[in-house]
Amino acid sequence: MITIALSKGRIFTETMPILKSAGIICTENPESSRKLVFKTNNKNIQLIIVRASDVPTYVECGGADLGIAGKDVLDEYQGVGIYHPLDLNIGRCKMMVACKKDFNYQNAIEGKNRLKVATKYTNAAGEFFAKKGIHIDLIKLYGSMELAPIVGLADIIVDLVSSGKTLEANNLIPVEQVSNITSRLIVNKASLKLNNNLLKPMIQNFTEAVN
Ligand code: PRP
Repeated sequence: MITIALSKGRIFTETMPILKSAGIICTENPESSRKLVFKTNNKNIQLIIVRASDVPTYVECGGADLGIAGKDVLDEYQGVGIYHPLDLNIGRCKMMVACKKDFNYQNAIEGKNRLKVATKYTNAAGEFFAKKGIHIDLIKLYGSMELAPIVGLADIIVDLVSSGKTLEANNLIPVEQVSNITSRLIVNKASLKLNNNLLKPMIQNFTEAVN
């Protein structure tokens, strides 16, 4: 049995069409179900639904053979037992630095000011500001980062921006791009060796579905 780990969050609506193009059709709609394991049209393939940030853990630790996860999640996870063979080109967004409209980010950077940065993406943010030679105090949050500058918890945030509506609704502005984000197919390294006859054609199907 091949298990594919998916998450219901941001990228889910784009994930199902990709699976379908790769010939994998779920027998139920996971979005309207509380179940966590789903059969597919192929008796050798099942889907499991996990939190987005848990997808690499399931794949690296062998709870799943394949997974679909955002580059944002993978960069934070930094696992060694995972291959990233394919950019699925879905879930496209940007990781951005954002702040309140009246915060002079450019001045702060030029003056090498020490900055309080609230984010879920502490590795990405740490690396980004280290390269710029800016000292930061990281404040790890698990969601609703946009609140941090509003209530004075942080000077700036590092977060994903897609439509820009969340920033706008909270009177924040994007001031610098950290990276481009898309979702990747990930594969357990050991499973790829053991189940090569099943996984290789599946990866090939995903590649054709993307192209
Ligand atoms: C992400 C991100 C922003 C929002 C941006 O949150 O953290 O809050 O989407 O999208 P927009 O630019 O289209 O408004 P998500 O919904 O993934 O939930 P999270 O707070 O759990 O990260």
